[in-house]
Amino acid sequence: MKLKQLKNNIYVLQAMWILIVIVATVVIILGSDKLLSLDKVNGEETPGADMTVTDNSDYSDIIWQVKTIGENMNLPENKVDMSGFENQILYTDAIYYDVVKPISKDLIEEKNTAKKKKMVAFTFDDGPYPAVTNRILDVLEENNAKATFFVIGDRALLYSETIQRINELGCQVANHTCGHKQLSKLKEESIVYEVEHSNALINKVIDVGNVMLRPPYGDYNKLVSNTVKVPMITWSVDSEDWKSRDKDKIIKEVLNTIGENDIILMHDLYGTTADAVEYLVPYLISKGYELVTVEELFERNDIELTAGKVYSDAK
Ligand code: NI
Repeated sequence: MKLKQLKNNIYVLQAMWILIVIVATVVIILGSDKLLSLDKVNGEETPGADMTVTDNSDYSDIIWQVKTIGENMNLPENKVDMSGFENQILYTDAIYYDVVKPISKDLIEEKNTAKKKKMVAFTFDDGPYPAVTNRILDVLEENNAKATFFVIGDRALLYSETIQRINELGCQVANHTCGHKQLSKLKEESIVYEVEHSNALINKVIDVGNVMLRPPYGDYNKLVSNTVKVPMITWSVDSEDWKSRDKDKIIKEVLNTIGENDIILMHDLYGTTADAVEYLVPYLISKGYELVTVEELFERNDIELTAGKVYSDAK
């Protein structure tokens, strides 16, 4: 009897093993078409490195994700073969060569929402002027918004603490020359001085290298374009804050014309400008706008800036 019982137990165990093997095989077969082994992507054996493939996004995202892998793994992009994966999205978090983790759905949602947001870039000229600039920075900080400050070189040195605060908040410090002259009326060496001396003064305060230029009055000519070694940024929305010095008029002027990828001109010199900004920043965010620096506006629109060229928006 004992022997029979033992035999029965062995049969049960064997049956269980067979069942486990069958289930595992089915799981592997069913799962295999949802996993893309990295050796398909880069032609090399990368154990344990799989990317989950789901089916609810568009082709543009695949390019982005594969690019991420290529960059993180130092693989040339032309080695990436995506054939057969059209209309699917690859979610990966390729931090190390042999570690690829699927990105959570929440993170993808977050990335997609960030892409869809309407961006605008607020810009402030002629400062810094701490009494006003700091009020603007307070609003930006409270709302996690960014802006760009085209500063006068001498003022940057004079108000170095304000420049440092702009920089620390992730806002952009850029150049508005040292003498605020009409560059089109100057000779080459004066243009160079106006731009480069101011840039050097900014760099005495923060280490930012050659920064973008806003030519005073938005004025330039061919000589200016050929002389400056950085992109020139003008604007597509003029708040006329220097003219009206009236909070409501500034707000009206901006809201009448503002749209996606616009660059808004303001001056951090007037209390009325700060009043308007205190209203506009939370209001625009509530309307689905994201306030970014000029640099980010172009970067996220995949627009590469060329030295000497003039850009008034990122449309
Ligand atoms: Ni100016």
